[in-house]
Amino acid sequence: MCGIVGYVGYKPVTDILMDGLEQLEYRGYDSSGIAVMCEKEIRVYKAVGKLQNLREELKGHENEFNSSTMGIGHIRWATHGAPTVLNAHPHTCNCGGLVIVHNGIIENYKELKEELIKTGCIFRSETDTEVVAHLVAKKYDKCKNLTEAVRLASKEIEGAYALCVMHKDCKQKLVITKRNAPLVVGVGINEFYAASDVPAIIKHTNKAVYLNDNQIATLTPEKMELIDADGNKIEPKAEILPWEPVALSKMGYKHFMLKEIHEQPDVIRNILVGKLHAPDENIVLDEVKLTKETLKNLNRIQIIACGTSLHAAMIGKYLIEGFCGIAVDVEASSEYIYRKTVTDEHTLVIGVSQSGETADTLTAIKQSKARGSHILIITNRPDSAMAREADSLIPVNAGIEVSVAATKSYIAQLMAFYLLALYMSEVKESMAKTDLTSLKAELMILPQKIEQILAHKEDIQNVARVYANTKDFIYIARGINYPTALEGALKLKEISYINATGYPAGELKHGPIAMLDDTMPVLSILMNGSVYEKLLSNSEEAKARNARMIALTNSKDEKLSHLFEHIIRVPDVPEIFSPIIAMIPLQLIAYYIAEFLGKDVDQPRNLAKSVTVE
Ligand code: AGP
Repeated sequence: MCGIVGYVGYKPVTDILMDGLEQLEYRGYDSSGIAVMCEKEIRVYKAVGKLQNLREELKGHENEFNSSTMGIGHIRWATHGAPTVLNAHPHTCNCGGLVIVHNGIIENYKELKEELIKTGCIFRSETDTEVVAHLVAKKYDKCKNLTEAVRLASKEIEGAYALCVMHKDCKQKLVITKRNAPLVVGVGINEFYAASDVPAIIKHTNKAVYLNDNQIATLTPEKMELIDADGNKIEPKAEILPWEPVALSKMGYKHFMLKEIHEQPDVIRNILVGKLHAPDENIVLDEVKLTKETLKNLNRIQIIACGTSLHAAMIGKYLIEGFCGIAVDVEASSEYIYRKTVTDEHTLVIGVSQSGETADTLTAIKQSKARGSHILIITNRPDSAMAREADSLIPVNAGIEVSVAATKSYIAQLMAFYLLALYMSEVKESMAKTDLTSLKAELMILPQKIEQILAHKEDIQNVARVYANTKDFIYIARGINYPTALEGALKLKEISYINATGYPAGELKHGPIAMLDDTMPVLSILMNGSVYEKLLSNSEEAKARNARMIALTNSKDEKLSHLFEHIIRVPDVPEIFSPIIAMIPLQLIAYYIAEFLGKDVDQPRNLAKSVTVE
């Protein structure tokens, strides 16, 4: 959701900016632009749509920017104003001498805009961002110091922002700052990079400084100077990023999503390293900083998340309640933050987020933290804003997920919940040791079972081909796989734009059954266990309304072929682990249908990987 890049150094800047933006494409965008410092002035180039359009726009202008070694770039996911060239970043002040790119939302932009118009500022776009360009320019006109101008302007801005600013008078100076939006500085030799995320810089350097909220950095080729909101100097702390550029390659797969689906067995193996050595040994979860005494006495947990992470959270509820007998509430962060919620110092609040930057979840976490709750964060980005709010942090170590549709990060989140629930039940002694041992043994062999499914992915592809042209899809399940149905439907919606809905199968007859006829595929997630027979009856009910029935099952029952037109078989696992095994074919079905339909699988329309606005 918007991405910014900046560079100051000695290399030709345009290639660095364009390549950096390309690495941020996964965040989702609908227009783009760059500004480069040329000999006499700053030049701005913008385009609507994919980056290729911006590349076309740059063609023929090479002589204007070929020798330029400083610039900023942006991909915009429209919030205020349609995706047009005028609304695309970078934005400038009246004279075009000051240029900025911005990720986030300026909440008080209307008030600021009114004031700025009174002082002669001319607005050309509908964006909230343009006020920042005018505001910083006004400050600069008075103090003639770009860093100070940004510092003074940021005091008047409310909302979330990562900003990259340059001025025509400061030929080799970039000023950057942030509040509640990600921003990382890549440290090179006689050069600095700025970006919304690591993929934009990792090719060039693995040395980075993460800015804290309200800090302002001034970057020149020689040095980085850091100050806080009051102008006090801070020593920048560089860290070495644990990232390999190869993680950003498709490795021969057609799409990142397919590659990421195939990485899931290793994702499970990775998360188990150091935490589960052998079935008869205890889980090691030093990441949980609550004392064993507190854990034993805990009687309420609140989990907050959005989208796919919310579905992982719903399964987490089943696990924690089932293994430990602790009451768990799960809520979408966007709902949680706008009502009177009851959490306090006796509640453990768990935030789940692949990106660790989702605005709604971040706000919810901050609210709970202010009320004294212990905050446990499950995320794939231990360098994220949410991770920095955590009292306990469980990094899921899935490796970078480029495809907008979450796959491996979901499986990794589920694994974090399995480990947490098992760990808590060991601490609470809420389950028989023999049961725990056999569950841990099953957990350890999940990767091989996923590999078995992936080895037969063509069977799933064949089923997907049959249903690629349907308009609607229903997924039904019960118990622990109800969230699996929701997640399977979400995957299909996200990347194929087919209307897909997940239902708890028992609810079918309370309304949705009215929709069923011979055009409606109903996919039944029929896993061996406590609700198998119930779901079978619900599937019969759907069949009786002529729905086209598909089973995703680990049952060996041959008679299922009387009821289901297509059967996708998966290896058997204890019911409690079936959400992992069931999810793999659902990811593949969504992937193959989207691929058959020729959709942009890795960057579906309107979606962003990191949703940094509420
Ligand atoms: C997943 O496929 C989606 N792109 C989306 O629902 C996502 O899970 C949601 O936006 C939450 O993101 P987070 O996990 O980074 O917080």
